[in-house]
Amino acid sequence: MFDEAFFDRGIDRRNTLSLKWDERTVMNEGGIPLWVADMDFACAPAIVEAVQARAKHACFGYSTDDPSGDEALIGFWKRRHGLAIAPEELLMLPCVVTGLKAGVRAFTKPGDGVAIFTPVYGPFHASIRLNGRRIMPVSLLRDETTGRYDMNLAGMEDALKGGAKLILLCSPHNPVSRLWTKDELTALCRLAERYDVPLICDEIHADFVFKPGVFTSVLSIPGAADRTVMLCSASKTFNIAGLLQAAAVCKNEKMRAALQAEMTAAGTMCGNIFAMAAAKAAYTACDEWLDGLVGYLDGSRALMKQLTEQYLPRAVMTPVEATFLAWLDMRAYGKTCAQIAEKCKAGGVALTGGTFFGEEGEGFMRVNFGCPRALLTEGMRRLGRIMEEE
Ligand SMILES: Cc1ncc(COP(=O)(O)O)c(C=O)c1O
Repeated sequence: MFDEAFFDRGIDRRNTLSLKWDERTVMNEGGIPLWVADMDFACAPAIVEAVQARAKHACFGYSTDDPSGDEALIGFWKRRHGLAIAPEELLMLPCVVTGLKAGVRAFTKPGDGVAIFTPVYGPFHASIRLNGRRIMPVSLLRDETTGRYDMNLAGMEDALKGGAKLILLCSPHNPVSRLWTKDELTALCRLAERYDVPLICDEIHADFVFKPGVFTSVLSIPGAADRTVMLCSASKTFNIAGLLQAAAVCKNEKMRAALQAEMTAAGTMCGNIFAMAAAKAAYTACDEWLDGLVGYLDGSRALMKQLTEQYLPRAVMTPVEATFLAWLDMRAYGKTCAQIAEKCKAGGVALTGGTFFGEEGEGFMRVNFGCPRALLTEGMRRLGRIMEEE
């Protein structure tokens, strides 16, 4: 049922208050949005049914905790990733970014340095900056021939020596699509241990991993769990980001209490009832949809490489080991991200500019290939025309 034809069909999202499709500052009507990281596929029927069933009860008052929802998440992580989570280790969040921000506030003081590997998803930077902490950027190591990135452990050690009080990690990594290996994660955790700093690991992209890769949760690294908060969500995996619901997993009781205190201070209280219904269905009844999706995306990442070679011969695409995001080095075209974005708007395609991920992203663009292949192909054709026209 969730075969190539299902995902090829996609879903018309125009005029649905979709940030990706309906935000006119980025893209004009008729454009092809390959930017915001959600997908243009219908979500699994079990999710739609769960939301509809809840909507039939005509009262939408405050919700209480749902242990069966927690069990659903726990079962999913055990089944899909072999990770054991106990119910008391879970903390509900409105979204993953809230977890990043609350974690920064809980584990550091104003003025403290927080280390991140860059380029990285914009809200990593904002979580530190907007809370009056100092960003300590550690550039990932880039192989200029292949475009593949490596963890810069020596750079991270320098940041820790320089006083960083917390590490934020994106795993798998957005935007450079790296699936961190067990060895890399172990080495990073050893550093966190040696310098006695906590680690917040955003694992929202854990389910978008392509063979032969295998996802390793940081919580499974021996000795790491006691200083780590892992952030996860059904939102990205099952394409339900607009419902807003995520979770933090923290085995350290003191850290968990500190995180909870921040959440309480910010006024987050109960979960969104539709999101709770959707997440429970997602975690229990949608494996087949997810397997179909990952298979489809695997084909699309190969297509993405081919389209880059065909339409953007001067660009270098970073190998995609995970996520549905492709990181393109377009520096050979000699344009800034702002210039490319302007041309893209006029040319009917929207991408995410590399500078959203940090200053070393200048001249890079990120393409979201979580859409039907026909749309991706047309978007890349337009991009190629725009870039190659001069
Ligand atoms: C690494 C990463 N973390 C978090 C998010 C956003 O998650 P949420 O909507 O739950 O805040 C995204 C979305 O693109 C992401 O790529």
